[in-house]
Amino acid sequence: MSLILTNRLKTAADMVRENRFTADVGTDHGYLPAFLVMSGKTQRAVASDIGEGPLENAAKTLRRYGIQDKVQLILSDGLKNVPEDAEEIVIAGMGGNLITAILSGAPWIKDKNKHFVLQPMTHTYDVRKYLWENGFFIDDEKICRDSGRVYVVISAYYSGEKKEFDDFLCYFGEKIQPNNEDGRAYISKQLEIVKSRYKGLSSCGKQDEAKVFLEIKEKAEKEFNIS
Ligand SMILES: C[S@@+](CC[C@H](N)C(=O)[O-])C[C@H]1O[C@@H](n2cnc3c(N)ncnc32)[C@H](O)[C@@H]1O
Repeated sequence: MSLILTNRLKTAADMVRENRFTADVGTDHGYLPAFLVMSGKTQRAVASDIGEGPLENAAKTLRRYGIQDKVQLILSDGLKNVPEDAEEIVIAGMGGNLITAILSGAPWIKDKNKHFVLQPMTHTYDVRKYLWENGFFIDDEKICRDSGRVYVVISAYYSGEKKEFDDFLCYFGEKIQPNNEDGRAYISKQLEIVKSRYKGLSSCGKQDEAKVFLEIKEKAEKEFNIS
């Protein structure tokens, strides 16, 4: 029996390095670690979640595919109970602010051998900002579409060096390809967020704060030739 992932999870799975001890944090149904193990990409994996219910879902998935001995299930708030020798850390399907809270709660992740695959559903701005402020670098970002929605998946490593960045980069990243359809769809989505922040702040008279978003909007329109 094969397991077919959604485009969103398949994009994340494709970014995981081969033959590394992998932790899927906030696993819910456990599809991602199940897929990695069944495809032979990963030999050792843990699937963690803050809830008993999601872990029961994951246990069912593992039993369905006969791989219950290959993925360890762990009840954990964020990375608290996740083994510190995990090399691939996947956090997908959560808000960006929850992802940054999980990362900041585990100082042991500041390790150059570890790789992070992060798939924020919202607040990608916060994820990029957190990474760059805390000595991580983003080596890749992939855009995918699933059920009419557009998603970003971020690949990052720790280097210990802080990066110079601004709000524009936090909204749009540096790795998005504006010339392909998915890249443009993602840029449009981010531009709508910037426009809505601008409108919200202008309409309540916060002109100074609104100006920041107007500048980001204008820069994006010029740089990506989009409106
Ligand atoms: C929407 S599901 C995403 C499932 C899967 N990762 C995916 O991308 O399809 C989010 C999961 O994160 C779990 N979660 C929420 N907060 C968490 C935390 N602080 N630590 C670990 N898991 C958490 C939830 O219980 C839920 O199962």
